[in-house]
Amino acid sequence: KSIVVLVSGNGSNLQAILEQISLGKINGKVTAVVSNKQSAYALTRAKEAGIPAIFIDHKSFASRESYDQALKKSIDEFTPDLIVLAGFMRILTPEFVDYYSARMLNIHPSLLPKYKGLDTHQRAIDAGDVEHGASVHFVTPELDGGPVVLQSKVPIFERQDPDELAQRVQQQERQMYPLVISWFCSDRLKMQNNKAMLDDKIL
Ligand code: GRF
Repeated sequence: KSIVVLVSGNGSNLQAILEQISLGKINGKVTAVVSNKQSAYALTRAKEAGIPAIFIDHKSFASRESYDQALKKSIDEFTPDLIVLAGFMRILTPEFVDYYSARMLNIHPSLLPKYKGLDTHQRAIDAGDVEHGASVHFVTPELDGGPVVLQSKVPIFERQDPDELAQRVQQQERQMYPLVISWFCSDRLKMQNNKAMLDDKIL
């Protein structure tokens, strides 16, 4: 399968995916990495792995629609079976999301449906939660609202430092995202009627 990964930042999830591919655990390959941030370290990781690393600057487009059109054009050169959002920090238009419907995944650092949006670690601490985590979900036009495929939990300790919590959550992310991608690439995972299905069972 052809996998295109969209990034904006460090790319630790991208790295984890590339590692599992090189270990033969995912029936696919990352054919391109696209970033809306030139400084994203994820682009460096892609180049080092010999993967096309593409920067498309959202600041040079007049509207979200025109940016997403350029993004789509660039992505489609790689005829992707799967689009993986891995720390891509931009809201996508409904047209874009619908175009890649049932073939776009995201990872979000919270136990969805809790804490959609930003600053999730601090919000979980402030709420007095005793656990937190990450979720992989199919992308639908509702922000962070698509059907969840897999969640991973970590405890929140007393007087929890948000950075330490983020590190533990991200460690889980690096385990779970490649696993979900491996399911998708071996045709075990699908989205049907807005539901995530693994081996034809609703998740
Ligand atoms: C992850 O915590 C992810 O859940 C969030 O952004 C972070 C990206 O990290 N959406 P990285 O760029 O993969 O290292």
